[in-house]
Amino acid sequence: MITGLRGRDLIADLDFSKEEVETVLDVAFDLKRKRALGEPHPYLRDKVLAMLFFFSSTRTRGSFEAGMAQLGGHAAFIESRTTQISHGDTEKELGEIFGRYFDGIAIRHVDWGIGNRYLNLVAGASRVPVLNMQCDYYHPFQILADLMTIIEKKGRDLRRKKMVVSWAYAASYLKPISVPQSLILQMPRFGLDVVLAHPPEFKLMPEIMEQAQEQARKFGTGFEVVDDMEAAFKDADVVYAKSWGPLLTTTDPEEGKHIQDKYKDWITDERKMALAKEDAIYMHPLPADRNIEVTDGVIDSAQSVVYDEAENRLHVQKAVMALTMR
Ligand code: CP
Repeated sequence: MITGLRGRDLIADLDFSKEEVETVLDVAFDLKRKRALGEPHPYLRDKVLAMLFFFSSTRTRGSFEAGMAQLGGHAAFIESRTTQISHGDTEKELGEIFGRYFDGIAIRHVDWGIGNRYLNLVAGASRVPVLNMQCDYYHPFQILADLMTIIEKKGRDLRRKKMVVSWAYAASYLKPISVPQSLILQMPRFGLDVVLAHPPEFKLMPEIMEQAQEQARKFGTGFEVVDDMEAAFKDADVVYAKSWGPLLTTTDPEEGKHIQDKYKDWITDERKMALAKEDAIYMHPLPADRNIEVTDGVIDSAQSVVYDEAENRLHVQKAVMALTMR
């Protein structure tokens, strides 16, 4: 087991090596067991995490806050719009100052072309770990929770298992592209053959695609891109279908919505799920646009593991915090 993660940031999925992710998973499974047994595990007593949000959250906020309390510490909820950050505190000032108050700085900033840069600038000025609660490029903690969930459902040996990462239609808002990007980076390292499916306007960042292909080559797994949702679902073991905005095509929300509206048939429904293997699991990070992105019949079915994914956010985040913030 590789240890020595103290002081490390987690901003991009590949910041941790495969062996380091395996350490995180080992600790996460142990913490899940301890919580189930009611065993106290105050590894971060008297430590405080700053949670800085530039965008709304349900699961991320709840799980980081509960996780810090369960580890014996505290999490401070800070919003950009109700602080002087909205009046000009710079990234460097924030990294310097919060690095002196807190033992870790977690940030959610999904604004396109801004979020990832912001996190890296804060990290450059901070003496404590910076943790990515989702930026415009990556959502690493979601993907660690997803990986933990897949292992729970499909076992540790994921070789020759097919995972579909598919775009799906949504009407609520143009969702970030960070989840599919993080999925295609992390999953090939754990043996899954990834099929990425999206309409032509919903491409991911070329540099992320290259990195994903490189990971697939390095770990001897498949990585394929198709523009047909039904073909992608065929014989899948894991179906992960969610919406994201056509950000590489346009950053104009109205134009983006117009493009998105062309693909209303990209919904995960019972007919499409029937194309996957009989024991396939359905995954979504939530929130989902019910009966638009996915039918109630699929998301509430026995194949759906969305609540396990949401729960596992707690355990993987506690593992990373305990390993990096001590
Ligand atoms: N999956 C996820 O990140 O959920 P929230 O946006 O509610 O935090």
